[in-house]
Amino acid sequence: MSKDQRNMKPNLKTLVILVSFAVVLIIKVNATTGDYIRPPPRRNLQFPWSPKHSSHPQQVHISLAGDKHMRVTWITDDKSAPAVVKYGTSPGKYNSLAEGESTSYSYLFYNSGKIHHTVIGPLEDDTVYYYQCGGKGPEFKFKTPPSEFPITFAVAGDLGQTGWTKSTLDHIDQCKYDVHMLPGDLSYADYIQSRWDTFGELVQPLASARPWMVTQGNHEKEHIPLIKEAFASYNARWKMPYEESGSNSNLYYSFDVAGAHIVMLGSYTDYDQYSDQYSWLKADLAKVDRERTPWLLALFHVPWYNSNEAHQGEGDDMMASMEPLLYAAGVDIVLAGHVHAYERSQRVYNGRSDPCGAVHITIGDGGNREGLAHRFKNQQPEWSVFREASFGHGELKIVNSTHAFWSWHRNDDDEQVRSDQVWITTLRNSGCIAEKGHVMRKILLGP
Ligand SMILES: *[C@@H]1O[C@H](CO)[C@@H](O)[C@H](O)[C@H]1NC(C)=O
Repeated sequence: MSKDQRNMKPNLKTLVILVSFAVVLIIKVNATTGDYIRPPPRRNLQFPWSPKHSSHPQQVHISLAGDKHMRVTWITDDKSAPAVVKYGTSPGKYNSLAEGESTSYSYLFYNSGKIHHTVIGPLEDDTVYYYQCGGKGPEFKFKTPPSEFPITFAVAGDLGQTGWTKSTLDHIDQCKYDVHMLPGDLSYADYIQSRWDTFGELVQPLASARPWMVTQGNHEKEHIPLIKEAFASYNARWKMPYEESGSNSNLYYSFDVAGAHIVMLGSYTDYDQYSDQYSWLKADLAKVDRERTPWLLALFHVPWYNSNEAHQGEGDDMMASMEPLLYAAGVDIVLAGHVHAYERSQRVYNGRSDPCGAVHITIGDGGNREGLAHRFKNQQPEWSVFREASFGHGELKIVNSTHAFWSWHRNDDDEQVRSDQVWITTLRNSGCIAEKGHVMRKILLGP
């Protein structure tokens, strides 16, 4: 050891102490910016074991399944329970019946219950239905979405199952909405399969009453090389209308509701120009008729516009491949998760403000156990309008064919507070689509 090296030793120690000090200080300063004292993360909820009759439904949730149809999903411990849903528009009176399919899966030492998926319909719009799953157990009810504007979406990503998740769900429950949309990261089961079951029970009161349209995040992957393929549990439990929308994968699909066409994409499945997802997206967008669906939205997990230090650049490759398609089609709003904070952009394209681009909103602040992403980049980019690291949820009310009202509701301790709000007008009438019509047709319909 040279003399110089020996001399460095105490200096290094001092440096480490100083740096630790600085980090603590920075975290402290960041956590208390402004007058809002941000509450700490909350622990996973405890779910006491509540035995149910083995043929009674658990974890009931519903999702839109093509025009005027709804998919009802539930689980029974009883492996011979039928995938039958009885339903009607008066309590206790079921004059319709549909039979579906059942599946189950195993994951290392875990064996799932029987997972039932039953599509019911045709259903009336904006109507309350009462239903019973498998002919046993309690009655549930849901309301179908309206066929015309106004329509309201509740949006929350990266939910998990903590005290904050509960607080977010309670706030969503208080709002009047038609459809829940979730841009990835549901249960945070992370390989422990029983957590999928507790998550299913936690969300049942909401997810059995309004359709939940979800797409997957990294926490749904649960990939074990050579043993378990990615998204196996997610696909078995949260079947979405991919067949109904011409997709061959549950990891990307689209649906129409009222006058909105909504595209749900996969951040963790191939998205390059030679991928199935890319071809499907191109064909799906080329079919959009803005007279019939004036609003065009997209959801996926990893944000493309993100000025938080967390997950910087992770969406770049997907953005490089797919943003030109969304731009060509005139997508109005993109909703993403992944970053545990809230951020809203101007209309943007290719990294810059652009009046013909989409408004990008990151809403990965549903309440999971990992806590918040506190550190935003010092310099707020010109396209970033509002950013804050707090738990909460979003509401998108599409008022009519031109105007929508977006609001973000922070879980300020246990009350919900409207913290950001903006009117968004659709690109349909902006001239963006008409002016660039031939370019768009070339991109969307080209080889
Ligand atoms: C749509 O709603 C906005 C906001 O309420 C209103 O200003 C506008 O006039 C409405 N447009 C139509 C065509 O009704």
